[in-house]
Amino acid sequence: MADLRVKKVKDFSAELSVPGDKSISHRALMFSALSNGPCEITGFLASEDCTATRTSLEAMGVQVEVLGENGTHIRVHGCRGEFQKPERALDCGNSGTTMRLMSGLLAGCPFETRLVGDDSLERRPMNRVALPLEKMGARVKGQGDRCTAPLTITGREKLTPIQYQSPVASAQIKSAIMLAALKAEGKTSVTEPHPSRDHTERMLNYLLVKNIREGDTVSIWGGQMPESRDIVVPGDISSAAFWIVAAAARDGARLLIDRVGLNPTRIGILSVMIRMGAQITERVDESGCEPMGSIEVIGGKLKATEIGGEEIPTLIDEIPILAVAAALAEGTTIIKDAQELRVKESDRISAVAENLRRMGVPVDEFADGMEITGVEELKGAEVNSLGDHRIAMAFAIAGLFAEGETVIKGVECIETSYPGFIRELNQLQAMGR
Ligand code: S3P
Repeated sequence: MADLRVKKVKDFSAELSVPGDKSISHRALMFSALSNGPCEITGFLASEDCTATRTSLEAMGVQVEVLGENGTHIRVHGCRGEFQKPERALDCGNSGTTMRLMSGLLAGCPFETRLVGDDSLERRPMNRVALPLEKMGARVKGQGDRCTAPLTITGREKLTPIQYQSPVASAQIKSAIMLAALKAEGKTSVTEPHPSRDHTERMLNYLLVKNIREGDTVSIWGGQMPESRDIVVPGDISSAAFWIVAAAARDGARLLIDRVGLNPTRIGILSVMIRMGAQITERVDESGCEPMGSIEVIGGKLKATEIGGEEIPTLIDEIPILAVAAALAEGTTIIKDAQELRVKESDRISAVAENLRRMGVPVDEFADGMEITGVEELKGAEVNSLGDHRIAMAFAIAGLFAEGETVIKGVECIETSYPGFIRELNQLQAMGR
């Protein structure tokens, strides 16, 4: 297990870019594979999670060419959705997005496929996608009540459209259904308690697949095939989030991040940081498939806030780093309505609470969130990533604000979403000493 040792930094000034958006990279691969010709993808995230999607599609006969720049520029040859039955189980690794979205794609393929994952993925609930996909006519067999992986999916050439009321605001559920809906005869609708990230809807529109949103409901018509077009993936706001908090909480720091995704369904972190007192300026370019632009952050003293309700899906992956911001803010921050965090790559509520306590921060844990009381200064400690990339990176940033040394145990998992994070962190530490 690899450890990362982090020391405190004083003020810093940095300009950086972050790797491609993970959610959009998965979708770019799947929708271009379904399309009617070659699609070039630039800014692709060549991380372990997206590689799991890529190798799964390759195992189904999709040709992917690497055109250069460390795998971030690729060409996918769309096979019009005529996939071959893979010879072996598809290995989704640690990636929930791969497993859930591929389940939707496989629901419309007339053969049986097995999907496997690592220990963490095998603990995560797959009944949330199995249930609607079975209603559409696919067979999804998993383990136990929560239908956990390994999964066996038996798809069908033609599926039945459904009107589905999702119990959770989850883009993975919505996207799995929308992928299957391409093979359903008629209109399929998904209604969510609150809107989740809309990358699938945007990308399908961009690839000329008609879908509409009415309130909390998205509808799509079957029998459509994505048109082959080139796709530009913006930088991942969820990766930028670590540097945004690092700069916002450090008096005198200045940070500029360019070419980052600024989709309104993903930027809850910016509103929260502004409420906490950070100075943040955005410049957005809306001309592409996804809004993207630059963010400037000027650091200062943060104050506590309350995070909950409809805001949660817009920042769900940023809660570990927002919890670190709360630990550095004046007052008590409340995070609620975030029970989904319990079924991510780790139980992120208990992982954050345990690690913050080790760093001397008072935390009260609830079923759906936590209360965090900010401290003058964090204490360097040994913390555990629990194999979860976002916990590892959040606590690496916490280490920049801690007296003494912070040791993060198990940082290999960072490769699932942010290759290059440790290099960037080391540069920042060298600069800010
Ligand atoms: C994702 C959706 C979110 C998010 C995950 C990626 C996606 O999960 O937490 O990291 O790409 O659709 P849920 O849909 O389960 O909320």
